[in-house]
Amino acid sequence: MTDSDPSPGYQPSGGPVRTTRRRGRMTDAKRQALADLSPRWALGSRLSGPELDAAFGRSAPRLLDVGVGTGEATREWAARHPDHDVIAVEVHQPSLARLLQDLELHGPDNVRVLDADVTAVLADHAREIDTGRPSGPAAFSAVRVLFPDPWPKRRHLHRRLVDRSFVSVVADLLPLGGWIHLATDWDDYALQMRLALLRESRLVIDLDGEHAGLGPEDLVHPDEIDPDDPPRWASARPPRPVTTYEARGLEAGRHITDLVAHRHR
Ligand SMILES: C[S@@+](CC[C@H](N)C(=O)[O-])C[C@H]1O[C@@H](n2cnc3c(N)ncnc32)[C@H](O)[C@@H]1O
Repeated sequence: MTDSDPSPGYQPSGGPVRTTRRRGRMTDAKRQALADLSPRWALGSRLSGPELDAAFGRSAPRLLDVGVGTGEATREWAARHPDHDVIAVEVHQPSLARLLQDLELHGPDNVRVLDADVTAVLADHAREIDTGRPSGPAAFSAVRVLFPDPWPKRRHLHRRLVDRSFVSVVADLLPLGGWIHLATDWDDYALQMRLALLRESRLVIDLDGEHAGLGPEDLVHPDEIDPDDPPRWASARPPRPVTTYEARGLEAGRHITDLVAHRHR
């Protein structure tokens, strides 16, 4: 899977997700839903190919959806790609409970849920690549992160999920032609994402219309961004519903940026 520049390991700058955020407000019904429905829909903590094949009962191309919240967009993605299997990673327990309830009621069947901090999952994955385990970590046709927590305060910026190291370890998961899709409603996070994608030489960003042709020399550092005139430099929006978090950003008048990059080597 890693034919060039494998990630030398993955050390998330923000550290693990804090446990208080995991718990949120849990009702008895949600606790019960997690207990009852996890055996049907939840995965163990590893993303190995054989384990995923066993969980889905088939061997199909895979899509990884990270930080899905209550997962409406995940279920839509999976319904649109019945020939793929979708793995949804989320830490927030009340959101997971809601997703499991919706899956049980409405499907689709080609979704499984991973209750885990994706940074820990990817760090394990990077270690497996380094040690060349024979069963091999799973590959994904696409990895998507829609509206990761923005952490807009300067002192919290280091907690942001999508940075250069994250993009590098995701590139390890992708085969040639595989793609990563990021979206955010924070202009400076969009710039940070763009920088991270540009610095990963195995990926090339798909640009939209008039913006095509801009390269690293046109980059603006997030600190230099003019909030009244942020650079709009993005990919065409792939088909996807407006997510819960995106709706809040739109309501607050924020601009939505989608970035898609393909693995080309
Ligand atoms: C801002 S919300 C966006 C949710 C959804 N994608 C949407 O657009 O409505 C970010 C989500 O990512 C989850 N999350 C944050 N860090 C995570 C991590 N390290 N691993 C897994 N999920 C994470 C949070 O619990 C939260 O549900």
